[in-house]
Amino acid sequence: MKYYNLKENDEQVTFSQAVKQGLGKNQGLFFPSAMPKFNNIDDLLALPLVERSVKILQPFVEGDLTKAELTDIVTDAFNFPALLQPISPDRAILELFHGPTLAFKDFGARFMAKCLQVFVAKDAKASGETKPLTILTATSGDTGAAVAHAFHGIENIRVVIMYPKGKISLLQEKMFTTLGGNIETLAVDGDFDACQSLVKQSFDDKYLATTIGLNSANSINISRLLAQVCYYFEAVAQISRTKSDLTNIVFSIPSGNFGNLTAGLFAKAMGLPIKRFIAATNANDTVPRYLETGEWTPHATVATISNAMDVSNPNNWPRVEHMLKSGIVEQGCVSSVSIDEEQTQSTVIQLSKLGYISEPHAAVAYKALQYSAVEGEFGVFLGTAHPGKFKDVVESILGQPIGLPKELADCIGEPILSKDLSADFSDLRSYLLA
Ligand SMILES: Cc1ncc(COP(=O)(O)O)c(C=O)c1O
Repeated sequence: MKYYNLKENDEQVTFSQAVKQGLGKNQGLFFPSAMPKFNNIDDLLALPLVERSVKILQPFVEGDLTKAELTDIVTDAFNFPALLQPISPDRAILELFHGPTLAFKDFGARFMAKCLQVFVAKDAKASGETKPLTILTATSGDTGAAVAHAFHGIENIRVVIMYPKGKISLLQEKMFTTLGGNIETLAVDGDFDACQSLVKQSFDDKYLATTIGLNSANSINISRLLAQVCYYFEAVAQISRTKSDLTNIVFSIPSGNFGNLTAGLFAKAMGLPIKRFIAATNANDTVPRYLETGEWTPHATVATISNAMDVSNPNNWPRVEHMLKSGIVEQGCVSSVSIDEEQTQSTVIQLSKLGYISEPHAAVAYKALQYSAVEGEFGVFLGTAHPGKFKDVVESILGQPIGLPKELADCIGEPILSKDLSADFSDLRSYLLA
């Protein structure tokens, strides 16, 4: 399969190039040149997660990975479940937080890491020399953990994660700074924007980028999105075990950079019976305003308790827009709702009264479903993170303690291995080249 650059259509690359490069020329996003279509959805849904996911992903990696290689990658990457939990007769949550870092990002980051591992090894075999890669990423919390755990122990891939010193929770910090080995972590004397700026400057420095083989592993990487397509199929497979009518399934997606929505639209375009999507945002409402007015007018980003969705210029939107405008999915299949802080908090309480402890991101999606789902629709909302990752905010809303999951409890006693770094690019450059 070839992938083309949505900004510079002439740039066409293979799957392995798209994964290694991340972005195309002029910061363009890569998009598949053809959307595979499955007519035998029932047969696909009857398969176990790994076997089904291999079939879903095979056309996308054709020419770069054999079926045996893909099977090994998927078996390794998806070694934890996506669980559909009923909330009420017509609502269910798709829990995507049963991986090692308790967030949906584990699916994409693990798949990407295993793909890169194979590509680095193949390149070394073909050229007779090993060219190590450096994954450089900035995190305000969650991404760092998913990337660190996904790449930990992978040969010839060095991971450097920067985060704003003193500005993330201790729990978040412990989840990615305690691993060691090929995972290096830098506590930057600055804010998250300063960390992002250091990443950008590194990519702009062509000598540095080629010398250390830079890659960012961020959420625009096509491999991360493709992995996410598989859990929409898994959700519908689980629904099909108890429901025979699959024509009224609606997904409500807590959205920030709109990667999850993009993956859902891929699944729909491939033939999965999903009636429509609700893109749920917090107060950062560029998309709901755009869908209503046709004007793209991002405001300054607002801080909310669903902080992973505090994005006012979502970087995956061009892919969504392309699918809607080119007819890959029907124009009207995406609506969007903005949920404010008070509604988010009251929804966490409402869900707890239904016997379900949630966190703010899932609550935003549940509330959006309550607003916009109609009679007869079966609404699934995505649980993108374990409530334990947002322990403080959930406990303060509910006024009661919630337990800490084992994955978080385990790392809390480990020492932080980070080095301090100034926000000056020349310091980072020397560090990376040393
Ligand atoms: C917990 C959580 N929910 C939702 C989102 C938003 O996902 P997306 O960026 O794919 O829209 C994120 C993104 O970081 C997240 O961490």
